[in-house]
Amino acid sequence: MPKRILIQLDSDPQPSSFDSVVAIDAGVDDLLRYGSVQVTGVVPLVHGAMFTRGGDDLRHTAIFIGGSDVEVAEQLLSVCRDSFFGPVRVSLMLDANGCNTTASAAVVAAGRHVAIQGARAVVLGGTGPVGRRVSQLLATDGADVTLTSRSLERATLTCQEIMEKSGQASIKPFAIDGDHRLGKILAEAEIVVGCGAAGAELVDKTTVQSMTDLKVAIDLNAVPPAGIGGIEVTDKAKPLGNGVAYGAVGVGGLKMKTHRAAIQSLFESNDRVLDAAEIYAIAKAIG
Ligand SMILES: NC(=O)c1ccc[n+]([C@@H]2O[C@H](COP(=O)([O-])OP(=O)(O)OC[C@H]3O[C@@H](n4cnc5c(N)ncnc54)[C@H](OP(=O)(O)O)[C@@H]3O)[C@@H](O)[C@H]2O)c1
Repeated sequence: MPKRILIQLDSDPQPSSFDSVVAIDAGVDDLLRYGSVQVTGVVPLVHGAMFTRGGDDLRHTAIFIGGSDVEVAEQLLSVCRDSFFGPVRVSLMLDANGCNTTASAAVVAAGRHVAIQGARAVVLGGTGPVGRRVSQLLATDGADVTLTSRSLERATLTCQEIMEKSGQASIKPFAIDGDHRLGKILAEAEIVVGCGAAGAELVDKTTVQSMTDLKVAIDLNAVPPAGIGGIEVTDKAKPLGNGVAYGAVGVGGLKMKTHRAAIQSLFESNDRVLDAAEIYAIAKAIG
């Protein structure tokens, strides 16, 4: 059996040690790590994966796209896909900045406490890489999503982009700065997910405790202060107000399992492309 080789492409100068450790824990035999990978230089790296092993052996080589810049990662994924022809391809996974595994774990955690279909959900800080994916996954599964930002323009643009990807999704933008209507929207929400930048408080504890319809509140920010007041990073289905709370570490176990399972699934065939929807399906199967 050929060795399982994972080619780690990272736009940062130092390829992520986190992604490398997960790859090894997922059973990869050899990890080839490349840093400072940009769109202009990625094609030879993809060709090296495509043209070295033939037939069924191709599935033993796969590419992981990481890095802190999710937009560059998305461009790299697109170039990788365009470099393939016919059956001459290898499986691909995008999890830049942990965006897909984190968002998938959060939405699966929410689904333990309320049916996503038809649920009223608020995604705070929804314009970042993680918030976009949380919003997209919730909306695709039928939630009625309100996506917040400090800027109505950014929130509107993000909602439009998600609707283009998700078809009939119910998703609307909301600008939080100084708008007293946020309290009303939160009061009616069953799911709230904090996806704001590390260390930015988006909602205080008093507001969360007054959310009458709350079923689950998830804060993905691990850097104090909490993004959603009253949530500790280690909370996992801990009672909060009328619902339960998860902190970043509380969803971290499922995120790690999802990441490892996604890496393992890359080697099942040579034509996998694992982005938000596919990684969410893996997280759902884990539960
Ligand atoms: N647990 C995990 O495994 C894990 C993995 C990855 C990320 N994370 C965490 O998940 C969260 C989201 O990640 P991300 O990469 O999507 O975050 P991000 O891009 O850094 O920030 C998300 C959004 O927060 C808003 N924001 C920025 N500064 C703010 C401030 N001072 N006050 C209020 N809002 C602010 C911005 O939206 P607007 O400018 O449009 O308002 C931005 O688009 C972060 O806290 C990150 O640390 C956790």
